[in-house]
Amino acid sequence: MFEFDKVIERRATDSSKWAKYRGRDILPFWVADMDFQAPPFVQAALRDRIEHGIFGYSETPNELIDAVVDWLASEFDWVVPAEWLVWLPGVVTGLNLTCRAIGTPGDSVLMNVPVYYPFLAAPEHGGRSLIEVPLQLDGGRWIIDLDALAAARGPRTRLFMFCNPQNPTGRVYTRDELVDLAKFCARHDLLICSDEIHCSLVLDQGRRHVPIATLSDEIAARTITLMAPTKAYNTPGLGCAFAIIPDAALRKRFMDVRAGLVPSIGCLAYTAATAAYQDPSNWLTQLLTYLAGNRDALQACVRGLPGVRMTHVEGTYLAWIDVRALGLAQPMQHFEAHGLGLSDGAQFHGPGYLRFNFGCPRATLDTGLERFARAVRAAG
Ligand SMILES: Cc1ncc(COP(=O)(O)O)c(C=O)c1O
Repeated sequence: MFEFDKVIERRATDSSKWAKYRGRDILPFWVADMDFQAPPFVQAALRDRIEHGIFGYSETPNELIDAVVDWLASEFDWVVPAEWLVWLPGVVTGLNLTCRAIGTPGDSVLMNVPVYYPFLAAPEHGGRSLIEVPLQLDGGRWIIDLDALAAARGPRTRLFMFCNPQNPTGRVYTRDELVDLAKFCARHDLLICSDEIHCSLVLDQGRRHVPIATLSDEIAARTITLMAPTKAYNTPGLGCAFAIIPDAALRKRFMDVRAGLVPSIGCLAYTAATAAYQDPSNWLTQLLTYLAGNRDALQACVRGLPGVRMTHVEGTYLAWIDVRALGLAQPMQHFEAHGLGLSDGAQFHGPGYLRFNFGCPRATLDTGLERFARAVRAAG
């Protein structure tokens, strides 16, 4: 059993997550990285590579390409020829390139909110405008309102940006929901950018992640799928990601906007990604069990408190908590004052909510939950 319970000091490592509250007694539960070591086989591969001592520019390793192609086939029944893959140093790079590759300046990009905040910034970076449509809360689940999307769409909307599993709500959309969304995009001739970076982090037994591009060849041809090993294997500081672009013309446009701007992937990042996709172990299964336990502990804590609500997290290690009933003018600051560093919902265009990253040892979470409860009671 991997030691997910082990608390490891990160304050001296310039970790973004921990440096934000340097010198203050605030435990960080914000940015999406976990306080666990990368799996032993990833660490071993990195040690071997470091031992070599020469860290020059790298080609994409054939072993990595083979491992990704095999993984897509076994995990999602998706047969992906290697030439569909475009390698990137990060998924956020892919979000921004997609906005520039599709349509022309002045076009608009449609998306649901709340959403991971780089989605919100990407259209403007590419001279496009943003059309945002709220997700709807339906029986405790965040769902996509296709009528609202249809009504909001403009004459120059060319792209729908999609996040699945969804950050910050933790939804893992069902095949039926994806089929309806895909039909909507086809009907309105929208291309799809599908960020599936959290695809290996499905917490609910019996639920499976379905890449939207696997629904049909027609949908695949209008989709850019973005994936990376860095969330599941907790290597976000070793940026390595890829786009899957089945349509050759779309792929060429994407590669054209990438040209000269995007740095190549570092050799250590390639090493970590290769080891992750060749995962010989049940490390990920153990991680998912551990995260589900953390989610349940957080859910139980929230359920026992007045004025706060949390929807069930199906995937990711992020919980989206409604604190509007506490009537706080500045929710994030209130929780910081009680020693808890959460993400402000307003950043995701979900004001009145807080995002809680529960990817940490149980002891850290337990301290966080005590502080959370104290902060809620102090607000009431
Ligand atoms: C939905 C989503 N996409 C992308 C990223 C970041 O990807 P990258 O570090 O590869 O740019 C995150 C990180 O939290 C995320 O949650």
